[in-house]
Amino acid sequence: MKPLYRTFFGFTREPFTAELKADQILQTAEVTAVAERFDYAVNLGAIALVTGEVGSGKSTALRWALNRLHPSEFRPIWITACSGSILELYRLLSSELEMETATYSRATLLKFIRRQILELTDGRKQKPVLIIDEASLLRLEVFAELHTLTQFEGDSRPLLPIIFAGQNNLLDLLLYRTSIPLASRVVARCHLQAISRSDMELYLNHHLKIAGISHPLFADQAVTAIHQGSGGLLRRANHLARGALIAAAHEKIQQVSAEHVRIASSELI
Ligand SMILES: Nc1ncnc2c1ncn2[C@@H]1O[C@H](COP(=O)(O)OP(=O)(O)O)[C@@H](O)[C@H]1O
Ligand SMILES: [Mg+2]
Repeated sequence: MKPLYRTFFGFTREPFTAELKADQILQTAEVTAVAERFDYAVNLGAIALVTGEVGSGKSTALRWALNRLHPSEFRPIWITACSGSILELYRLLSSELEMETATYSRATLLKFIRRQILELTDGRKQKPVLIIDEASLLRLEVFAELHTLTQFEGDSRPLLPIIFAGQNNLLDLLLYRTSIPLASRVVARCHLQAISRSDMELYLNHHLKIAGISHPLFADQAVTAIHQGSGGLLRRANHLARGALIAAAHEKIQQVSAEHVRIASSELI
């Protein structure tokens, strides 16, 4: 059943969702900045960092950057860290590389992964690109060990570029002494800032358009309220915008006001 507000405004799909196709991603200045650093690190076989608050658009920007790589030439390997141990990371990596292994031995997993990476680069002539999302959840000992993944016996070629994305403490983790071997390979980093008021307006209209509405539904003051209430963070802006649409539809009002945004914000934490 379609929610009331979708019918009321005539949306062709749910607005302000996380489910965006790569060509629906808005190419903001932040997305471009991430993509430039991504390309630079990938070309050098080095490491880049993308930091920012939760919901600032890190994963989306990386998805956009990744989508531009030619699939025959590159092999993206996307890992979302969770528990934070090195073993978990190696297991996630081996499953992404479609390796069938039941082993829980770190050394064996590492050997298999390295072999698979060499098979990609030398056998299939594909360049692997490793993206580790939510990397700020990884434990310190992971940062101390991870550089071994990029080293191949008797082969000094930089074969495995890595892009780390995470919250701001990612940088602190890399500044520890034990992380130096990994940190010394970082060639670029980018911090996603809160977006400006004018970009927020573009952003809101962009999401409306994806959902089939090409006229601005948000009054100027509603845009300002979403900008302020979200702190310029996109995921929170999505929730505020959708909540405000619901409040306006409830009152059968076609233009969303700052008051509707206020009602929406009372539902969020
Ligand atoms: N460039 C963009 N274009 C359109 N929507 C975006 C863009 N960046 C972020 N978003 C929206 O904001 C939400 C949060 O972004 P996300 O990349 O998941 O943030 P983070 O990874 O920093 O937590 C996404 O689900 C998407 O709806
Ligand atoms: Mg993310």
